[in-house]
Amino acid sequence: GKGEYDHFMLKEIHEQPTALTQALEGRIDPENERIALSDLDPETFTDVESVQLIACGTSYHAALYGSLALNQAGIQSTALLANEYSVSAPPTDDDTLVIAVTQSGETADTLSALRQANAEGATTVTVTNVVGSTAAREADEAVFIRAGPEIGVAATKTFSSQAVMLTLLGQCIAAEQHGEPPADLGSLLPELATMPDMLDDLLVDSGADLIAEQYADSQSYFFIGRGLGFSVALEGALKFKEITYEHAEGFASGELKHGPLALVTPDTPVFAVFTGEEDEKTLKNAEEAQTRGAPVVAVCPDGHRAVDVADAHLEIPETEPALAGLLANVQLQLVSYYAADLLDRPIDKPRNLAKSVTVE
Ligand code: F6R
Repeated sequence: GKGEYDHFMLKEIHEQPTALTQALEGRIDPENERIALSDLDPETFTDVESVQLIACGTSYHAALYGSLALNQAGIQSTALLANEYSVSAPPTDDDTLVIAVTQSGETADTLSALRQANAEGATTVTVTNVVGSTAAREADEAVFIRAGPEIGVAATKTFSSQAVMLTLLGQCIAAEQHGEPPADLGSLLPELATMPDMLDDLLVDSGADLIAEQYADSQSYFFIGRGLGFSVALEGALKFKEITYEHAEGFASGELKHGPLALVTPDTPVFAVFTGEEDEKTLKNAEEAQTRGAPVVAVCPDGHRAVDVADAHLEIPETEPALAGLLANVQLQLVSYYAADLLDRPIDKPRNLAKSVTVE
């Protein structure tokens, strides 16, 4: 049941510290700077030269996040929409690793792309929440995110757990390719181990309800970010449109001035995600919207320069860029939730949507 919460979505947002603890259990050893993914055959990454991540919707945003984490770990990688894969997939061969990211393991588009990759001889892995799912059976290997059941149609905790597992996979593949763990593993793992506590702190007093109230009457909602923050901006906008039925769009911060700026008015709040990846540029991009009258909500740590410039602030704990985006995403999940609640939407079951999409 929903317990003390009004909706499954809010319950599942609050379950994220537990979900991440479960995802990391036995898989990271921060003291010895080690990752152990015992679900995988140890040979899985031996010949991998490039990685394709395939997924849809929120899982695609997790795949984008993961793909960037892989690129930053020095592995050539691309995130691809599973429903575009049959018409636009880059070539694969037996050095290509294809990772199907799917919470349910039953999304028809993703299964179809996975089958194509299998037929082409790629090594395939699925990152999924459901043991025994079709993706888990059909991929060569499966990594389970252990998030527990997700009932709300809008994916929340599974996004966070998928992104974290993909970050770990990236580090493992990089270690295999380079014969030694990536240099930044020593700082990443201790921060990852404190993620559940950081999330707990954020959830106690996020302030997202007040921000939702302040801007719930707007015409359109824009989300911008750079790097990992870009995938968070896309996910923030998807969540917002799904459950509030209001118009929302996510953009790469630097793209705003290449067209979307024409839409900006005092009635279009801009949520700017700061992950420590060229934040100065993102702040400039946000200020360009602000000059046209748009209120800017900065999602960043306290004491960040953006706090002084922005009209409002959603606070996240100070951490590595690899994890800041995930914390910012939780703040945006909460803004969507509270805005949808104010608008009296059926949050757990938005119109026209299903939890698992089993048609192409
Ligand atoms: C959005 C949402 C969907 C799913 C997508 C893929 O909140 O939940 O966009 O992410 O349908 O589903 P899975 O991950 O089950 O393949």
